[in-house]
Amino acid sequence: ARVRRYKWEVKYEMKSPDCYKKLAITINGRSPGPSIVARVGDTIIVELKNSLFTENVAIHWHGIRQIGTPWMDGTEGVTQCPILPADTFVYKFVVDRPGTYLYHAHYGMQREDGLYGSLRVLLNEGESEPFQYDYDRSIILNDWYHNSSKQQSFGLSSIPFVWVGEPQSILIQGRGKFDCSTPGTPTALCNASHPECAPYAITVVPGKTYRLRIGSLTALSALSFEIEGHNMTVVEADGHYVEPFTVKNLFIYSGETYSVLVTADQDPSRNYWMSAKIVSRNSNTTNGLAILNYYPNHPRRDPPTTPPAGPHWDDRRPRLAQSGAIRARRGFIHPPPQISDRTIVMLNTQNNVGGYRRWSINNVSFNMPHTPYLIAYKHNLLDAFDQRPLSDGHDFTTYNISAVQTNPNATTSNAAYRLKFNTTVDVILQNANTMNPDNSETHPWHLHGHDFWVLGYGVGKFDATKDAGSFNLVDPIMKNTVAVHPFGWTALRFRADNPGVWAFHCHIESHFFMGMGVVFEEGVERVGELPSSIMGCGHAKGFYKP
Ligand code: C2O
Ligand code: CU
Repeated sequence: ARVRRYKWEVKYEMKSPDCYKKLAITINGRSPGPSIVARVGDTIIVELKNSLFTENVAIHWHGIRQIGTPWMDGTEGVTQCPILPADTFVYKFVVDRPGTYLYHAHYGMQREDGLYGSLRVLLNEGESEPFQYDYDRSIILNDWYHNSSKQQSFGLSSIPFVWVGEPQSILIQGRGKFDCSTPGTPTALCNASHPECAPYAITVVPGKTYRLRIGSLTALSALSFEIEGHNMTVVEADGHYVEPFTVKNLFIYSGETYSVLVTADQDPSRNYWMSAKIVSRNSNTTNGLAILNYYPNHPRRDPPTTPPAGPHWDDRRPRLAQSGAIRARRGFIHPPPQISDRTIVMLNTQNNVGGYRRWSINNVSFNMPHTPYLIAYKHNLLDAFDQRPLSDGHDFTTYNISAVQTNPNATTSNAAYRLKFNTTVDVILQNANTMNPDNSETHPWHLHGHDFWVLGYGVGKFDATKDAGSFNLVDPIMKNTVAVHPFGWTALRFRADNPGVWAFHCHIESHFFMGMGVVFEEGVERVGELPSSIMGCGHAKGFYKP
């Protein structure tokens, strides 16, 4: 195993990823940031300098479980204090499993200002995947706003509430196209021929098979990705091998990664569109486009066809069908424990709390404390956050999930769930109607520090007696991010076997910001001595030794 060292400087820079000039947060001048490519067992060391002048920062290694290094998870408020302007923080962790992962800012809503990238862990020399391909490529999908995340978070936490709206464009590997002739667009800020917004192109050799590692880090949007005229065979999800299945379009939610195999087997005399379309929301954002370039055609040559229109945004059936089709690959099945020790039912609702628009779990809307949980638990700082236990399940037998509810008892809290070490925990995510009539959203939930088994999905209200019997306990896929579909439920199971404190939240930036998350503590007494570099804020100020 090797040690891989990176020196990153995080700073604002003018960028035009969709032809519109905006201050983006870059790493060494780039957004998306540099890709990390490592092999199983390698140690990654990232020396991160915060050159943002007035803003804090923290970076999360999405999908890396941080076994033995819970303080390196990069979740501001949960596992570390923020990295202050002009400070340097050193992340050091081991990548223990092959797969497709991501990294991104985990401070405020900074991720959507462009602070993200890909992290790919390869097998060691001599080992091989259970599928064949000739070349390996990564693509990150993202949505892009012209407002800064600061402006957005200000609006979200105002009375009256100001919603962020739909993104201005969809980016494929950091490139998109905003229509500069859109009314109200200042001509000085938009340049349709800016080199930074030329479409991303992947060059393929006819007859060869490509592994495309597709990750989504959208701020809001659920996407459908497709390659005109080409099927995609899904072989990996969130670092786990999938029993292969073929799709024309791949639904992907923020925080998920997939590997698909694509063979360049179409007419080689032309190029083809790759397209990413928003689903689940009635958005007028134009589809993101990129080019599958058949060698030796020119990579800038537009395909002669109209880009694919994509599925209808409101058709939930194919999305549910794809979710249900993802199973662990035969020969690589990790069967889940057949029974769980604890079930936490999480009813996801949107409501007003004290005049603010919030998201709540069992009527509790999450607030981040000033002292990170990991430090507070380890050093017994009992007044750092609310010590009262959270409920394992709001009784919703009489709750109508298909109509607008006022949820008058909703409150905000920074209390956390304490899990008994080495126990098996089930979480049932139950979706409901938002504050708008006939509306329920897709929420991709991401768990830090673990992979969980996806036991099942359903439409309507979860019924413990009936639905628990339908759980897939044979070959469920393990993931770190899973969607709960509109008006539906999703059941997952994990082992609380990674000492630390871990966030579990909706991966939509604005939803987590509005309280859609919880925190799990497990086995904190087994966590080794915390490095002083994560200290320096809240009640942990005194522990910081520069
Ligand atoms: Cu990729 Cu807590 O997030
Ligand atoms: Cu959400």
